[in-house]
Amino acid sequence: MAADPPARTRRPPDQAMTKDPRSETVDLERLRRTKAKLMSDCPRLFQTFPLSPYMALLDQMPLDQPYTTFTPQVAGLWKRIIDEHGKEQLEILNRATMLELMERFLIRNRGENYPSCVRGQYYLNFSRILDEVSDFDFGNYDNDSDIFHKDFALCRENIFPIGPGVVERNCGFSRSVLFSNGVRQFLDVAHFLIFVGPGNSRYFQIHTHLRMVQDFNPDGWEHAYRCLAEMLKYHPETKGVFRASWFCDPALEEVSPNLAYIRKMPQDNGADVFYIGPDKTGGPFARSQTRRRLFEEGKYLPKTYILIWPRKSLISWSERNN
Ligand SMILES: CC(C)(COP(=O)(O)OP(=O)(O)OC[C@H]1O[C@@H](n2cnc3c(N)ncnc32)[C@H](O)[C@@H]1OP(=O)(O)O)[C@@H](O)C(=O)NCCC(=O)NCCS
Repeated sequence: MAADPPARTRRPPDQAMTKDPRSETVDLERLRRTKAKLMSDCPRLFQTFPLSPYMALLDQMPLDQPYTTFTPQVAGLWKRIIDEHGKEQLEILNRATMLELMERFLIRNRGENYPSCVRGQYYLNFSRILDEVSDFDFGNYDNDSDIFHKDFALCRENIFPIGPGVVERNCGFSRSVLFSNGVRQFLDVAHFLIFVGPGNSRYFQIHTHLRMVQDFNPDGWEHAYRCLAEMLKYHPETKGVFRASWFCDPALEEVSPNLAYIRKMPQDNGADVFYIGPDKTGGPFARSQTRRRLFEEGKYLPKTYILIWPRKSLISWSERNN
């Protein structure tokens, strides 16, 4: 049975994630012990599917591919393991692989390639993943689950962590946003694409990571955007950041004022927000009785908006607020 997500408590500012001691380092000895135990518990699995060739297959995957996309070789290997040994054995292999990837990150000092705030976020997430690999029930890292895809991609450095979110590099958004909301938006998007971005490719894309939901609050996102500003300085070719979600909808100011900050703070500091289309994820109703009631009363229709924060204004916001 899959474990419940962490309790939804708000961290007081003095316990903000940057001060979490786990963001300083990862317990390498515990990591090695956990991996050795997993492997000694399932000797046949690791004899038939040793870690090194699997790691080699993972290393061949391009890092700028979407984190949910796997090469035919990796997908084929997974299918073979599921067909011959079952899903649980694949999960054991993937848990050991995540430990191996984290160990490699630490031994090779990969953290040095990131600004200190993102490095701290890696350590924080690695310590969390180590806990989850050690303690959580099977099913927690089912190979079809979003949580697994995100944590696996973090270990592979296919995405990087920023508090309550994770970020894909080298992403683009569809130009169809030109046509999704009438003439006024067409002109605004055209202006953005020609003069501001410019263009719709080479952005960082933010995704929420529900394993880090305890940092989903104004302080957590401000810290996340400061990490992004630092990452943008490391990547001069990246034009800015974007995210698309129901919680970037301006209607939330009335419907869920507690979430309005997600759109408002970036928009007040240089981000643009454009309508994409109706939201079909079900996300708005996952937690909130209020939004469900308002929807049933015909007073709220979930809509997806894209929020795009160009690099120049994001970096200058960060410098003003540091
Ligand atoms: C995105 C998300 C994490 C935001 O959570 P949030 O900051 O707590 O804000 P929400 O408005 O969604 O809160 C939901 C409810 O929990 C309540 N709540 C908020 N904080 C709480 C806390 N610390 N303890 C208990 N309940 C809390 C709120 O009152 C709200 O209920 P209400 O709207 O009926 O009053 C949450 O909505 C979620 O998990 N959604 C599903 C996944 C999703 O949509 N992902 C994004 C895809 S783009």
